[in-house]
Amino acid sequence: MTERAPDTLPADLVIHGGIIVTGETQFAASIAIRDGRIFAVGDAAAMPAARETFDAAGLHILPGAIDVHVHFRDPGYTHKEDFESGTAAAAFGGVTTVFDMPNTIPTVADAAALTAKHAIAASKAHVDYGLYAVLGEDTIDKVPELVEAGIIGFKLYMGNTFGRIPTPSTGAMLEAFEVVAPTGKRVSLHAETNSVMERRQRQLVEAGRTDALAHLASRPAVVAVEAVARAAILAEWTGARIHVLHISSAAELGPLRDAKARGVDITGETCPHYLMLGAEDYARWGGIIRVNPPVREAANQQPLWDALADGTIDMIATDHAPHTPEEKTRAEIWSVDCGFPGVETQMPLMLTEVAKGRYSLSDYVRWSAVNPARIWGLYPRKGVIQPGADADLAFVDMGRTWTIRDADLKSRSKVSPWDGRDVTGMPVHTMVRGRFVVKDRALQADTKGHGRPVHTFQQMPAAAPRHADQTIAAATAVVAPGAAA
Ligand code: NCD
Ligand code: ZN
Repeated sequence: MTERAPDTLPADLVIHGGIIVTGETQFAASIAIRDGRIFAVGDAAAMPAARETFDAAGLHILPGAIDVHVHFRDPGYTHKEDFESGTAAAAFGGVTTVFDMPNTIPTVADAAALTAKHAIAASKAHVDYGLYAVLGEDTIDKVPELVEAGIIGFKLYMGNTFGRIPTPSTGAMLEAFEVVAPTGKRVSLHAETNSVMERRQRQLVEAGRTDALAHLASRPAVVAVEAVARAAILAEWTGARIHVLHISSAAELGPLRDAKARGVDITGETCPHYLMLGAEDYARWGGIIRVNPPVREAANQQPLWDALADGTIDMIATDHAPHTPEEKTRAEIWSVDCGFPGVETQMPLMLTEVAKGRYSLSDYVRWSAVNPARIWGLYPRKGVIQPGADADLAFVDMGRTWTIRDADLKSRSKVSPWDGRDVTGMPVHTMVRGRFVVKDRALQADTKGHGRPVHTFQQMPAAAPRHADQTIAAATAVVAPGAAA
């Protein structure tokens, strides 16, 4: 008996009949999968023998979305969400990889907290994940141990938000960037300048403002503009890579574009709520719409769409920020928790705009999968449908019009400003590394714990630190001239 060459082994699964969407184009083809990876893409007749086949007729097959900004609240706030409910929600939204934020309890600021969260994620996740660690005023010395213990990147809070993580001073930010730059890791920024917001909020409170729109008044766009510009200056000086989270205003695009033009390694995301909701929605939703940064005047929407189209904004993320109905409906706006769930509604909301003809499915795939994978060094293992890539697939029915209902959300948080919205385009099945996690809108058995960390194969481009001779570490290493040896 002759041994078969590895490339003649049967595939585990061949998917026929779907339309494959890439960042450039779409085409009808079959996909063969073996050991969780895509093994062949092409004519049905050219596919290898398979143990199983799957009929995707009538569906578009997209690379699963990579949502680089979710809050799954585990450990510490599991009444709002946990890694199991959050990743189930992701799978229902066609999202196959998530990056989880560190504002949990304890804050992910040292290796012990990070290792504990890794254990939680490994036991509960339905989809793949990366974990962020905090870069804080007093934890800069933890950078090496955090990188060692396995992170996708750092998160730095320039302004206060849920979790009340203290804001590092500009001095601490510079030092933090000096220390992170040689690691090559990206620093994701909550770019809102704290001192401005605190001062304005205090005066709004004193003036008796407790209405929902007072939240927007406390954080005008200049708060973000100043933060983005300042962070870009520090990134340019140190060579640290940065990512601007949840871009909410047209005005931020100026410093973002300028920094990109100067060659700063800066990327940005926006979220569906900044593209699709406006100041007029506060009257309807009250505290439910409270989020940081705030939903702004509707005039910001088209410039944000244009910035996605021209590449100034690199991607769509959700800032999935679950809270309970009680936490979202308190009478006085300042006591309402900020944020709302979004990981499972992003894809249908965005596909609705594709259905309207606003942009193409390939545009969407670049924003939701290709660009996040490239920017975090996961490409071409993630973010693309081609041989060698993980078989992370979102099967969507572009003809399906349906209504988002909070009650149907898989998130533990069943309160969002999307309730009652009609959408066109439904993620029907979701596959993670060759395994269906959701099939026919049903969570499959035994997929809890299927998710795996992605930092293990992350390959960021070579680090490019600048002014390394002028860092505080370099300066304090110099023995004072004339000092006794
Ligand atoms: C987020 C949360 O609830 O964790 N809230 C929010 O309003 N966006 C924190 C954050 O990303 O700012
Ligand atoms: Zn934030």
